[in-house]
Parts: sequence; structure tokens; C-alpha cells
Amino acid sequence: MSAAWWQWGVVYQVYPRSFQDTNGDGIGDLAGIEQHLDYLADLGVDALWISPMYPSPMADFGYDVADYCEVDPRFGTLADFDRLLSAAHARGLKIILDYVPNHTSNRHPWFLESRSARTSPKRDWYLWRDAAPGGGPPNNWISDFGGPAWTWDEATGQYYAHAFLKEQPDLNWRNPEVQRAMFDVLRFWFARGVDGFRIDVLWHIFKAADFRDNPPNPDYRPGRGEMHRVLQTCSTDQPEVHGVIAEMRRIADRFGARVLIGEVCLPLERSMRYYGTDGEGIHLPFNFRLVDATPAQWTAAGLADLVGAYEAALPEGAWPNWVLGSHDAPRIAARRGDAQARVAAMLLLTLRGTPTLYQGDELAIGAVHVPAASVQDPRELREPGLGLGRDPSRTPMAWNAEGHAGFSSALPWLPLHDDWPTRNVARMWADRESTLSLYRRLLALRRAYPALSRGEWSLLPVQGDVLGYVRGHGAQRLVVALNLGATPQSFTLPAWAASARVLLSTVPGDPSPPSSTTLHLRPDEGLILAPSLEA
Ligand code: GLC
Ligand code: CA
Repeated sequence: MSAAWWQWGVVYQVYPRSFQDTNGDGIGDLAGIEQHLDYLADLGVDALWISPMYPSPMADFGYDVADYCEVDPRFGTLADFDRLLSAAHARGLKIILDYVPNHTSNRHPWFLESRSARTSPKRDWYLWRDAAPGGGPPNNWISDFGGPAWTWDEATGQYYAHAFLKEQPDLNWRNPEVQRAMFDVLRFWFARGVDGFRIDVLWHIFKAADFRDNPPNPDYRPGRGEMHRVLQTCSTDQPEVHGVIAEMRRIADRFGARVLIGEVCLPLERSMRYYGTDGEGIHLPFNFRLVDATPAQWTAAGLADLVGAYEAALPEGAWPNWVLGSHDAPRIAARRGDAQARVAAMLLLTLRGTPTLYQGDELAIGAVHVPAASVQDPRELREPGLGLGRDPSRTPMAWNAEGHAGFSSALPWLPLHDDWPTRNVARMWADRESTLSLYRRLLALRRAYPALSRGEWSLLPVQGDVLGYVRGHGAQRLVVALNLGATPQSFTLPAWAASARVLLSTVPGDPSPPSSTTLHLRPDEGLILAPSLEA
């Protein structure tokens, strides 16, 4: 099977505000990304997904876009972007941009025009409705950040819809002019040479045409965020989204080997529909199952079920993908601890499907405390204290032990993790046992063994705390055995893997060599094994 780059390759998410500042304003920029391309190439990733760097009032840190075809001056210029793109390509690295189709900034010229009068030619580009008959918002939809999904506009006497902040008005994707304008955005960047897009909140872009109420959520418990009071069955995931996706796919395909990765947070069966049929969907609906896994699911049996169910649900010909964290979720090391974060790294990079790494997870940055006075995230500011805030996973990268960890000459926009003097790239690169070195070795193994990057996957029976599976490509077969627990475990290998040799362990020091078919795993140890006859 000849696989595409976005299948065998590894994606690395860059959150540009927090990657590298080059002009001393405490905020990362495009020149900062360019400065670290060698780091990323040496680490062994294949593509960068860069979170939004477009002009933005930053109400939602770039996910409120005021111009889709420019670069925010805080991040640089279009010329800086072009330089970054060609420098990345020169190193064999692809660039994936963030495409934010559901909403613009309320300062986007389109919205300013739409808001100017009910008769504005762009009025219908957004979702304007009269107040409910008795007054108040047109329906019961709730913003994902809490509060009504509607804001009253005094000047024109109507409400407008916003799935997120009131500074992020939702576009009306039923309007053909909106579609045309937004498809042009894809063409603009593809023509510049961009290799793909991560599509923001793709399942949100169509709402029920009649704007009926969402049903109440019978399982609602306070404390998880007000958005969960209702089920978003009418405000998201409408069938019309698939027609628009098919057009996005046609546009991407016309430019050659490009990729579309969609943010889709839906139950398994519904998210699978975003693959489309006959190659007309997106290439990869982001698979958040490992991010959403509860502690009870983070066991050998739980993960066997989780991975097995996902693999089984994939439509014919669909390619899987996996991710452990992002700028929206608590970090993997904060969720699972240092030792299991290493097991998780091995899991992520040995499952079948495209892995996406999130910047800083290769350093296993843990729970960062952001003092109340430093909170930036609007999600936290609107519903404080519920643990929904995203600042703790957006803190700056730590490059070395100097100044502000080499991130900036100025005070960074968010605090660094406490242990940055030791938990930084320079220090961990030199330490063979660090989590960073583990990531490098895992990425190197993926290059050396096509079984890992593009092979088949099959589960072995769970034994105690050990999740085991086989990756195979042609004659090449590898076994992965992951101890999800904190006690020593033994694991019986299939007969064909007797006396396999250990290629890599997540635990420093020598692993015990398998005796015939019995494997002894140390606490929190993950192993990759090659049968003794394999090269
Ligand atoms: C996505 C982004 C998130 C943003 C939201 C609204 O979920 O990842 O950061 O706040 O969309 O654009
Ligand atoms: Ca800067």
C-alpha cells in the first residue's frame, strides 16, 4: 500500500503565541517558529499544524479572525509566513493552517457591514433573528463558553447567534456568498503552498434551518459547564455540513496532496460520517477518544475497548488518527502523571493512524498553576473554578535554562511551568532518559519500521494491566506491550514472538530480556519488541 504523507507522517501542533518570541513582546511569533524548524525536523515530526496567526482582536486568542488572508502584526507579516513555509518545505516539513469557518471576529469587516443595517447586503452572512415573542433570545441555545448563544444588537433590534463568545458571531453557511468567500480562503492559502488545514469546530457550522430549541440534557450535572444543560442536536451536526465538506475536499484535491483534518467532537458513529463516502469527506476527523478517556478507561482493558471500538467503527478505507492533547485540553502529564505520560507517548506513536503531538508534551509539562490574576482564557473568565480553563496547557515552551526559558527576553504572556530550569529542550535533549529523548526514539523507530507508521494493527488479549498489540507490514511484525499500572506485570507473547528483543522501553535502565514467550514489565513500562529474526 502506498500511503500519503498525512497517513504515515506525524503532525506537531504549534500554538504560536507560546512557541518562541523573537521581538521581545512576550508573545511568540512566526519568526520564532522558523527559528525552531531544525528542532522539529531533528525531533522527527513531519508536519506542523499552526493554530491561528491571522489578524485578530484576540478575544479567543486568534479563533476570532478579523481577516482570513493576512497575518496578525503580533505574529509577523505575510512575507514572514512565506519565508516560514519555504524554510519548512526545505526541511521536508509540511505546514497545516487552522481554518476557522464557523465564526469570524465581531470586528471582521463582514460583520461590521452585516451589523450596520437590516438592509445591509451582508445582513444574511450572519445569523440574525428577532427576539422571542415574549422578549429574550430567539431560542434556548447555549454558548459553548456558557451563557446564551445570542447577543442583542441595540442598533438594529435583533439578536445574532454565536456558538462561542459574543465577539465570535457565527457565519450563515446557508448563504452561497458566504460559502464562496470562505472557499476562496482555502484557495488563497493552498495557492501559497500550504499543505493542509485543521478545520475549527467543523461540526458546528450548520444549525437547524428553523432554529428550534435544543432538547434538555437529561444527564446534566452542574460543574461541567453550562453548555451541557442542553443537547446540541439542533445547533450542530446538521446533514448539510457534508455537502460543504465535499466542496472543501474537491478544492483541496485540486491542489494535489493536501490534507483536511476536521475538529469534530461527536459520538463515535456520528463523527465517522465526516469521512464521507467515496473520498468526499475530510481526510481525518480528529479523534479525541484518548483525550476524553476517563481515569477508569485509562486501563489495559479500557484502552483495548476504546481502541477496538474506534478501529471497528472506521468506514471502509478510512485512515485513523490519534491525539493526546491540544491547546484546549489539560496536558497528558497533568492527567496521567509523568510515568504514564511516557506510556501514553508510546501508545500514541505506535497505534495505527496519524498521530498529532501537542507542543510541550514532548517535555511532559505537567499541571501548571496559573494564578487568578494571570488568567487569560475567556473560557475560564466566564465560568471560573470549574477546571475548564485552557491557560494551563497554553504556557510557553521552555527551550533552555536561561532568562524566561529562552522563550522570550520579556515576561511571557502566560507563566512558565515551575520546573522549567530542568524541564526544557536543551537539558532534556542531552539526557538520554528524558521524555524528550523517548519521543525522539519513538519517532526514529516509526521511520525505521513501516510496520509502525503504516502497518496493520491487531489487538492481543489483555493480560492483567498490560495492553498488547501487534503492528505488521509485509513480513515485518512488531509487538507493543504497555503496562498501564504501577506494579510489575508479566505478559505472555504469541509463540511467533518468542525471544523477541526489546527495541525500546519507556522506563530508564535495562528492561528484562524476554525469556521465551514470557515478558516481565516493570511498573509503568511500555515496550516495543521485534521478533528475534526480524532486522
Ligand atoms: C476550537 C478551538 C478553540 C476555540 C474554539 C472556538 O475548539 O480549538 O480553541 O476556542 O474552537 O473557535
Ligand atoms: Ca513576539
